[in-house]
Amino acid sequence: MDQAQKLRDIVNDINDIEEKKSKLDIDAKVITISSGKGGVGKTNFTVNLGIALSKLGNRVTIIDADLGLANVDVLLGLIPKYTFSHIINNEKFIEEVMTEGPCGVKIISGGSGIMELANLNGTQIEFLIDSLSRLNEISDYILIDTGAGISQSVLSFVKAATDVILVITPDPTSMTDAYSLIKNIHDEDKQINLVVNRVESSKEGQEVFSKIQRATDKFLGVKLNNLGYIYEDGNVKRAVRIQKAFSIEYPNSIATKGVELIAYNLVNKENKINRVNKFKLFMNKLLK
Ligand SMILES: Nc1ncnc2c1ncn2[C@@H]1O[C@H](COP(=O)(O)OP(=O)(O)OP(=O)(O)O)[C@@H](O)[C@H]1O
Ligand SMILES: [Mg+2]
Repeated sequence: MDQAQKLRDIVNDINDIEEKKSKLDIDAKVITISSGKGGVGKTNFTVNLGIALSKLGNRVTIIDADLGLANVDVLLGLIPKYTFSHIINNEKFIEEVMTEGPCGVKIISGGSGIMELANLNGTQIEFLIDSLSRLNEISDYILIDTGAGISQSVLSFVKAATDVILVITPDPTSMTDAYSLIKNIHDEDKQINLVVNRVESSKEGQEVFSKIQRATDKFLGVKLNNLGYIYEDGNVKRAVRIQKAFSIEYPNSIATKGVELIAYNLVNKENKINRVNKFKLFMNKLLK
């Protein structure tokens, strides 16, 4: 293929992508769940938030962008057949890659596909846009669980997301790591929400939130949204051991109540702000 033809193809590709992007006006809510430090309870929170949102009448899809071992499938005892990799390589439709989790929550495993995101060619980007726009049509909430130790690919999700939930614990290193992450990802389009996990009291949760909020406000000019707290609860560990979601296995536990209140806060907050074009914004930023 001569050079000119190559260039024409690239321009055509880009035009196609632009056209596809402009069609993405529908408004699933994309929320990336992240943390500065690993092991703070992101995956447990994501799964149980998904269940709680589903119980409130929402269609929920979880994308597991965690490359580690303690991921969504393991937590729920599911064995996914396909991963994100099959989507970007056009081997499977997005519906085929989804596994059904509790309460109708759909799960997509990232697998090695997440690493591949950093180096997609034009065609793969098209597949990705097609799949994600399809996902947008069939979901009200798309929750992206990111792993510990943020890779470049995962960081691109976090940076693209219009909404991020940072999970922190009262542990001082969790707080300083959360601050560093906020410093890295904040921008004017992004709403950064905090969930304080493993608290002993709501007073403790409030104090942790206020501490971080004071620092980000003072040094970064970033205002954070307090979504709520989850108590330290032995039922979480028990549920993890038997590979069940704690809110299914222990619906009356104090951890379940915390997550349900957070889901409620999230939906309520959502009703108050304009969701139009948020998905488009997410896609545009991700592509950049
Ligand atoms: N509210 C809680 N009460 C008690 N234990 C908890 C709570 N939340 C999380 N844990 C404990 O922390 C462990 C790690 O949780 P989880 O796997 O969800 O963290 P993670 O942030 O996703 O980890 P990673 O960074 O490795 O992905 C759980 O297996 C559980 O034992
Ligand atoms: Mg995890």
